[in-house]
Amino acid sequence: MKTDWYKNAVVYQIYPFSFCDANNDGWGDIEGIISKLDYVRDLGVTAIWFSPLYKSPDYDYGYDISDYRAIDEKFGSMADFDRLLAECHRRGLKVIMDMVINHTSTEHPWFKAAVSSPDSPYRDYYIIRPGKREGQKLLPPTNWVSSFTGSAWERIGESEDFFLHLFCKEQADLNWENPAVRQEIADILNFWLEKGVDGFRFDVFNLFSKVFPIRDDEDKHTYQKGAQYFVDGPRIHEFLKELNARSLSRFDSYTVGESYRPSPENARAYVKEGNNELDTIFNFGHLEADNIAGLKFFRKPFNMMQFKKGLFDPQTTSWGEGWNTLVLENHDGPRCVNRFSIDTKHFRYEAATMLATVTFLGFGIPFIYMGQEIGMTNCDFRNMDELKDPVSHFVFDLMTSYHMPKSLAFRFIKYGARDHARVPMQWDGSVNAGFNRGHAPWQCMNPVYPEINVKKDLSSDRSVYRFYQKLLTVKKTNEAAVYGSVTEYDRENRKIIAYSREHEGKRLFVAGNFSKRPVRYRVPDWVKGASVLLSNYETLSDKDGALLLQPYQAVVWEETVRPEK
Ligand code: GLC
Repeated sequence: MKTDWYKNAVVYQIYPFSFCDANNDGWGDIEGIISKLDYVRDLGVTAIWFSPLYKSPDYDYGYDISDYRAIDEKFGSMADFDRLLAECHRRGLKVIMDMVINHTSTEHPWFKAAVSSPDSPYRDYYIIRPGKREGQKLLPPTNWVSSFTGSAWERIGESEDFFLHLFCKEQADLNWENPAVRQEIADILNFWLEKGVDGFRFDVFNLFSKVFPIRDDEDKHTYQKGAQYFVDGPRIHEFLKELNARSLSRFDSYTVGESYRPSPENARAYVKEGNNELDTIFNFGHLEADNIAGLKFFRKPFNMMQFKKGLFDPQTTSWGEGWNTLVLENHDGPRCVNRFSIDTKHFRYEAATMLATVTFLGFGIPFIYMGQEIGMTNCDFRNMDELKDPVSHFVFDLMTSYHMPKSLAFRFIKYGARDHARVPMQWDGSVNAGFNRGHAPWQCMNPVYPEINVKKDLSSDRSVYRFYQKLLTVKKTNEAAVYGSVTEYDRENRKIIAYSREHEGKRLFVAGNFSKRPVRYRVPDWVKGASVLLSNYETLSDKDGALLLQPYQAVVWEETVRPEK
């Protein structure tokens, strides 16, 4: 049943809240998405990943699901979804659903039943443990910390019991040890696959399996207390294999797992062909090159070595063994043109196109986040009220509770906020950037929209979108760009990123300048005879026998290797 369709796929991620609001109520909706499908297809992508569309009270904007088989009313109805699916398929676009199954909303009927009585059979759907009595005080069962700050345990009413939540307290972790839970999940996947969806993105999948019995984390050196007991847990591989057998493998489906800092060995095993776990996972190592240990709010000077390692290591380890993905942006982080010490003010077009070129021609499936294809930028938020993501507020509150001045805390938050990616899509220069017809959007607009929007980009002779179209054509049609082995060049070079891809006698060479100044670069000899396939500048200059790559210039060469006699 299963084919390899995903191997030369290009995926576009839509965050439904902010894509297009057809009924002008302030929230993006399915009708709006349908109206823009031609735009998405024309970019050259072959699949769309929809961030959650399911019923949700939105404490974490859809990542807290209260009904896995219903579409949230603000987005439309199930009939609208069915139409969306058909409209995507009619255009040759596959549909990938987000599946948030590490936790449910606390408004999910399972959770409501679980907390309604200690005898409820649903009690064991979650991880519920008695607190620790210390004199008058009732402390949480363990010292585990939520990824969203604070204790990972929340007390159930006035009882002695607590439930585990590795994210918001409105997102209760499911107990995957319980076979009934695993069967429910397989049934949910089958429900959507039977409808005709083509695959899933699994939210934080490597947290499904926890170490039991639950215990305190005594490691003094970790800020994420508990992580050693819930990341890549002991039964995770078994759970994924089981899900595969019961659901995924029965359809021509594709899965990409979002993981929380997996170990390299586990990362490899999750995607190894024949392991029957996942087809791919996301790798975010390179996106930690300008922050401290993946803590988005803590800026550090861009570290090119770390970027290269994070980008290439997963490619070289998975090549020949499994498949890979390539990501610069998603709904959980700032815009790529505002990172990596880039001079966005002067070189937005060049940087947007260079980053895409050096990333997406690597080994793996490109994932493009809505707006990235026109070089959308971070939003110059004025105050905390403009940020809607609860995480921005949790972290701000934590910082100020340690007496950090509010203005400083705000600067940290602005650096890494997920909100940057969540402002409405900028379609044109009209009211609310054409996101809707004037109703105040749920999340403020980025005030730069009169300058940066789809309409303007498409009519510019330096259109990021049109560059993406060319790049994606190369990606999809050049076999070396899909299947080729990856060889990195000049890893020690702190300004230039360079690599080749090689497949059955065809070679590509890709080079990009990460500097706002021209940089001399000597390409390998074999590249001198190759032809330029793509570049984000019209010319290629030489200086003293080497290339002179312009600020953020990216160049792709193609060579046909003569087979050896
Ligand atoms: C993933 C999602 C993120 C969400 C979290 C909890 O990291 O991408 O948006 O907040 O999981 O579900």
